[in-house]
Amino acid sequence: MKRLRFGLLVLGFSASLAQAADPGVAQRVEQLLARMTLEEKVGQLNQLSGKEFTGPATDKVRSMEAEIRGGHVGSMLNIKGVADTRRLQALALESRLKIPLLFGLDVIHGYQTVFPVPLGESASWDLAAIEESARIAAREASSAGIHWTFAPMVDVGRDPRWGRVMEGAGEDSYLGSRIAAARVRGFQGARLGGVESVMATAKHFAAYGAAIAGRDYNAVDMSEHQLHETYLPPFKAALDAGAATFMNAFNTLNGIPATGHAALQRDILKGAWGFKGFVVSDWGSVREMVVHGYAADLPDAAAKALVAGSDMDMESNAYSSALAAQVTAGKVPLAQVDDAVRRVLTKKFELGLFDDPYRFSDAAREQAALNDPRHRRAAREIAAMSIVLLKNEGAVLPLRRGLRSIAVIGPLADARRDLEGGWIVKSGADKMASLVDAVREAAGPGTRVQYAPGCDVACRTTEGFAAAVAAARGADAVVLAVGESWDMSGEAKSRADVTLPGRQGELFAALRAIGKTPVVVINAGRPLIFEDVAEQAPAIVYAWFAGTEGGRATADVLFGDVNPSAKLPMTFPRNPGQLPISYLQYETGRPVRDVKNIVYKSAYIDSPNTPRYAFGHGLSYTTFAYRDLRVSDARMRADGEITLSFTLANTGKRAGREVVQLYLRDPVASVVRPVKELKGFQLVALGAGETRQVSFTIDREMLSFFDRKLAWAAEPGAFELMVGSASDDIRLRQAIELTP
Ligand code: BGC
Repeated sequence: MKRLRFGLLVLGFSASLAQAADPGVAQRVEQLLARMTLEEKVGQLNQLSGKEFTGPATDKVRSMEAEIRGGHVGSMLNIKGVADTRRLQALALESRLKIPLLFGLDVIHGYQTVFPVPLGESASWDLAAIEESARIAAREASSAGIHWTFAPMVDVGRDPRWGRVMEGAGEDSYLGSRIAAARVRGFQGARLGGVESVMATAKHFAAYGAAIAGRDYNAVDMSEHQLHETYLPPFKAALDAGAATFMNAFNTLNGIPATGHAALQRDILKGAWGFKGFVVSDWGSVREMVVHGYAADLPDAAAKALVAGSDMDMESNAYSSALAAQVTAGKVPLAQVDDAVRRVLTKKFELGLFDDPYRFSDAAREQAALNDPRHRRAAREIAAMSIVLLKNEGAVLPLRRGLRSIAVIGPLADARRDLEGGWIVKSGADKMASLVDAVREAAGPGTRVQYAPGCDVACRTTEGFAAAVAAARGADAVVLAVGESWDMSGEAKSRADVTLPGRQGELFAALRAIGKTPVVVINAGRPLIFEDVAEQAPAIVYAWFAGTEGGRATADVLFGDVNPSAKLPMTFPRNPGQLPISYLQYETGRPVRDVKNIVYKSAYIDSPNTPRYAFGHGLSYTTFAYRDLRVSDARMRADGEITLSFTLANTGKRAGREVVQLYLRDPVASVVRPVKELKGFQLVALGAGETRQVSFTIDREMLSFFDRKLAWAAEPGAFELMVGSASDDIRLRQAIELTP
C-alpha cells in the first residue's frame, strides 16, 4: 500500500507541556507589562486587517502605518509574504516599546500547496496524513512571515446547508476531536517557537456549527448536554494538543453572543480547562454585539467582550476606540486588561519575536518552501486518500487502461480553480491539472480522451448538452464531473437547496438516455443531494474540492492506482427535509422497526428516515471481512479496562486500507443515550488475502457521558459494543457490563 513518502512530522508533543508557562517568559512579560501605558496595552489587543478583507468593511483607521508606529496595533491579519510582513514589522519596531506584530492569516487547507478542503481531508480518517498537510501548510506559511493561522475550525457540522461544513471535520465529536488534535500538532509542530511552526486557532468557540436552519451567522439554541457532549469536545482536544489561541464566534448561544459569553470563555475555557493562550474575536464580532441587541453601542460592546474574556479584537475597532475609556470609567477592571495583554505578549515571546522579530520572514526559506516538490507529491497522496467511493456496482471502477476512448463530460471536468475550494491564500490554478488533463495523463497515448462541458456549473441551459451527448456516444467509458463551484461552499455560502446546481441532473439524464452509464465524479465542499445519480449511476466518486492535485488524485482513484479508503465524515441526506441529520440519534418511543409500518411512528410519510449514504460509509476496490470478536473480559470494573479484538481480513484481490469503526451504545441510562456513538477507529492497511488482529481498549472514559449533574460519569450496567465498516454496516457486536 502506498504510504506517505514525505515525512516532516515531529511527533511526541506533550499536552501538559503545551499549556505550561515558561517562567523565563513569564518574567519578561511582567517586566514589559510594568512599562506599558493603558493605551499601549489596548494596542496589543487590537488586530487590523491589511487591504484584503475577509469580512465586511469596518470604519477604517486614519492610517494603518501611523497606528502601527504609535503602538496601537498588536496584530495584523491578511498580510503575507516576506516583503510586506517585514515592512510592517519595521514600523512596529519604531513604536516606543518596540513590541513586534503578530501576523495571522486563514491558512485553512494549505498556503501555496492546496490540500483538500478540511471536510474532504477528514474523510481520509488518516490522522498522520492530516497532521502532515497542516505541517506542510505551516512550513510554507511560516516562511512567508506568517506566525499564526486561524485554523483548525473544529465546529461540529450536521447541516450541509451551512456552507462552512466545508472547513470542519464533519458531524462527529469524537472523529472531530481526533482530527482537531492532529491539525493543531501539524500547525504548531513539536513546540511553538520553531521557525517552521505557526500558532493554531481552535475556532469558532462555540457551537457556531449549530446555526439554526443552516443559515450562516444564525442564532444557536442548545441544551447543556448537547454543548458539552458534542460541540465542546473538539475544542478541548485542540487545547490538549496545545492550541495557542482560540477564536470566538459570530453566533449567539442561548441568547448570549459567543463573543460576550463569559461562561464559555472565562468559566469553561480559561477556568475549568486552564487555557493559557489568548482568545481572538471573530471578524467584527465585538461590534456585532450591538447589532444583536446585546450591547448599546461600541464602547459597551468593547467592555462586554473584554470582561467576558475576548482578549483580542479583530477588526471591530472597538477596543482601540473605546476600551481605555471603559477602564477609566470603571466598567472594565484593569486586571482583566492586563490578563489579556499578558496572554498576547506571552505568545509573542514564545514565538521568539522579541529575540528576532523577522525570524519568520526569510526570503531564502520562502523560496525553498514554496517551491518544494515534496509538498505537491504529498498533496496528491492526501487528496487521493480523501476521495470517497460512494458506489461501485458491478465493479465498473477502476477504469481499465487500454480503452479506445473515454469521454470526460461535465461542468467540472476541466475545472482547476474550483478544485482548490474556498479559503485559499492564492490560486495556483494555472499550474494545475484538471480532471480531463489527468485522465489524459493516466490513460496514456493509446486512449482518445474527449471533453465536453455540457454546461457551466450554474447549468441554466441545456444548449451544450447535444455536444456532450455526441462526445459520449461512441466512447468506451464516460466520466461525468458535476457539483458545486468553489464559491458555493464556505463562509456565508449557506444553501437552502443542496441539490446539484441548475440542470446538472438533466445532463446526467441526457447521457443515460443514449444508454450510457456514466461514472459520476462529484466535486463539492459539502454533502450534496443527487438522488437520480445515486439511484442510476453505476459508480460515484465523491472528490470534494481536493486541492492543487485534485485532478490527478481523482484520476488515481478512477484508474485504481490508488485504492480508495476514505469514509464519509458527514451523513448524506436524501432530501433537504431530513436536515439536520446525523448518524448519532436518540431512540424515540416510537421508532420505525419496519419501513412498511410507519403508522404512529417517528417517520416521514414522504421519505425514508435513513440517509442516502451513512456516516462512515466508503467503498474500496477490495473487500474486508470482520471475524472472531473477543473481549478479554465481558465484565469491566469501574477502574479497569478490557480489550476488544477481532480479525480483519482483506478478502479481495488488491491491497487496501480499511477504516474500522468502533461504536457504542449504553442501552439504559439516567439520561437517554444515542443509539450508536463512535468511540474509536483505526486505519488498517492489508495486502490481498492478508489478515490482522485489530484491538481496541475499552475504558471508563469511553463509557462516560454528561449526566444529569452535568458531569462526566459512567453508569454501571450493560453496554453494547459494535464494530463495523460504516455506521450502518455493523459487522460484529459484543455486550459487556460495567460493574460498580
Ligand atoms: C471568519 C473566520 C476567519 C476570519 C478572518 C471571519 O469572517 O468567520 O473564520 O478566521 O474571518 O478572516
